[in-house]
Amino acid sequence: MEFEGKKIVIGITGSIAAYKIPLLVRLLKKEGADVQVIMTPTARDFVTPLTLSTLSERPVISEPFDSLTGEWNSHVDLGRWADLMLFAPVSASTMGKMVNAIADNFLVTTYIAAKCPVYFAPAMDLDMFKHPANQANIKKLQSYGNILIDPQEGELASRLKGAGRMEEPEVIFEILKEGLKKKQTLTNKKVLVTAGPTYERIDPVRYIGNFSSGKMGFALAEAFASRGADVTLITGPSNLKVSNPNIKRIDIESSAEMLSEVKQAFSKADILMMSAAVADFKPSTAQEQKIKKNTQHWSLELEKTPDILSELAKQKSPRQLMIGFALETENEQYNASQKLENKKLDMIVLNSLRDEGAGFATDTNKVTLITKQEQLPLDIKHKSEVAQDIVSYIVDNLSQTKIKDK
Ligand code: CTP
Repeated sequence: MEFEGKKIVIGITGSIAAYKIPLLVRLLKKEGADVQVIMTPTARDFVTPLTLSTLSERPVISEPFDSLTGEWNSHVDLGRWADLMLFAPVSASTMGKMVNAIADNFLVTTYIAAKCPVYFAPAMDLDMFKHPANQANIKKLQSYGNILIDPQEGELASRLKGAGRMEEPEVIFEILKEGLKKKQTLTNKKVLVTAGPTYERIDPVRYIGNFSSGKMGFALAEAFASRGADVTLITGPSNLKVSNPNIKRIDIESSAEMLSEVKQAFSKADILMMSAAVADFKPSTAQEQKIKKNTQHWSLELEKTPDILSELAKQKSPRQLMIGFALETENEQYNASQKLENKKLDMIVLNSLRDEGAGFATDTNKVTLITKQEQLPLDIKHKSEVAQDIVSYIVDNLSQTKIKDK
């Protein structure tokens, strides 16, 4: 049984697609899952709690306090109990609450307390779905690490045709099955991820930097941690925050600091994911005092920084996987393949700045995974999904002999 022993919380909100959820509960129960249904008060108008409690064999929860039995339902306990949480269907209003932590019902409160992967399957009318506020909320939920189950095109309850129809229960069932399979494949593995830019000081107020936001590296750290890995994230200056408690964050500023931290952590790592945009050159000397503008022309002498990946290649053991990024603007495939070889990498993730929606500050990315054996272009996706795809590829294709059998 595919879901034997798995604990799943299903949150149902006020949308007509709620009538399909009893079927999903039935499918999950048949495969051995323990299902706890939470309904928002409006969801109860669309499908009866009796149907759901009968199928799930557990009383449906809507309120923290049951006035009939006097029983108290703990959102924290339930949030920690779940191996997986699914919002289906999720309405525009609940997504807005999830984004802003407006915990005015039991479902959203449980979501805020949850420690497990969270899936959300929106369902609404096509114009509601397209509304910029809604689209922004979906992006924010993804950036918090939640996994979107895209609504489908089709006839909607309003009789209009378009995107907004909740994915079918059978498909959601398959998505959850895959998600749980992936979940803990990297338990006890140590992964070192680098992210963000480096700042190379010119004087106390100026530096040489680059436009890297750290989004891709942070998303990778979260993706590895969501599979159970013990992650160390070494990051240059970035405003981003980590959410998974399995990520240990080390903040650095310069390429020299990054080299020193990565070198220290590398010997214990099973995988190194070098997604930082490390400066290639730094000022030969950083001035102690602010440089004054008292000349017409000024030139700055730069010297090469050590290439961190090449340095580490010298101490790499055969059991370790080393993965780099290549940011290119021309001859992308060729340049990336050269870097794969020169830096003795197991894989390189190619980003081309010529691809729309790819690169530094965007929320999306389009990458090609390059190994000695193959070149695999991925579709343009949210960076959190790209990160999940990269980690899946590593687990399925690169780690057979190194990570899995160790
Ligand atoms: N990298 C590194 N140390 C550096 C510079 C880059 O380890 N001093 C790593 C990056 O983190 C990335 C890979 O090398 O994983 C490729 O980085 P990229 O900037 O694309 O290429 P470079 O090697 O710097 O070469 P070039 O700038 O000439 O394209």
